[in-house]
Amino acid sequence: MAVDRCVCHEVSFRELLSLHREQGLSFEELQLRTGCCTGCGTCEPYVRLTLETGRVVHPVLDGREADAIMARAGRC
Ligand code: FES
Repeated sequence: MAVDRCVCHEVSFRELLSLHREQGLSFEELQLRTGCCTGCGTCEPYVRLTLETGRVVHPVLDGREADAIMARAGRC
């Protein structure tokens, strides 16, 4: 199974990466513009990983991997 979008707000990581790269939107600005990561929050480590790596499709992260991504973002 692959993860490629925020399902709560139906926004793909490809779209988020495009907004980040083309308009310079930060993570917080992406949240405001699209609503990503403001529903259940499950997508937040995936969105942050998208911005870190430029990849727009991710394998399902285990808890340790998700925690590490959030810690790098200062969110844990
Ligand atoms: S999947 Fe993005 S907020 Fe729920």
